[in-house]
Amino acid sequence: MKILVLNGPNINMLGIREPEIYGSDSYKDLLELIAAHAQDKGVAVEFYQSNHEGSLVDEIQKAYFSGVDGIVFNPAAYTHTSVAIADAVKGVVIPTVEVHISEVSEREDFRQVSYVRAACVKTICGHGFAGYTEAIDYLIRYIGEKNEG
Ligand code: DQA
Repeated sequence: MKILVLNGPNINMLGIREPEIYGSDSYKDLLELIAAHAQDKGVAVEFYQSNHEGSLVDEIQKAYFSGVDGIVFNPAAYTHTSVAIADAVKGVVIPTVEVHISEVSEREDFRQVSYVRAACVKTICGHGFAGYTEAIDYLIRYIGEKNEG
């Protein structure tokens, strides 16, 4: 099983950006946590982060052609603005879990909209970095059940 962990704008600045919201651990720490978890679970993970909307769309399309089984996706600010990213996720029909480090439901009004949510099989918010590993576990179960049925 191959899972793509996709992160949107400013996620590469974890540990520096608003630590009171996102914590003091870095993007590298996040990748190490996910890689160790994936290894434990016996799944292959690929990572991609971009600050650019079109690059994220390109990567989602690439995932389709390279046979990615599931996507863990934190679109960051593009969650609240991007129809193009939502369309890309919908279009490839790869099971995708939307992840947010912070509890977006308790934040500003403009964060209450998620264009991508309707294209995702699950949303995990406010669990910090653990949200990513929970998303991997969810996808392992989800894809396993889909393959059985
Ligand atoms: C975020 C929440 C978004 O509203 C914000 O723009 C981010 C990070 C999160 O992980 O909590 O950049 O997706």
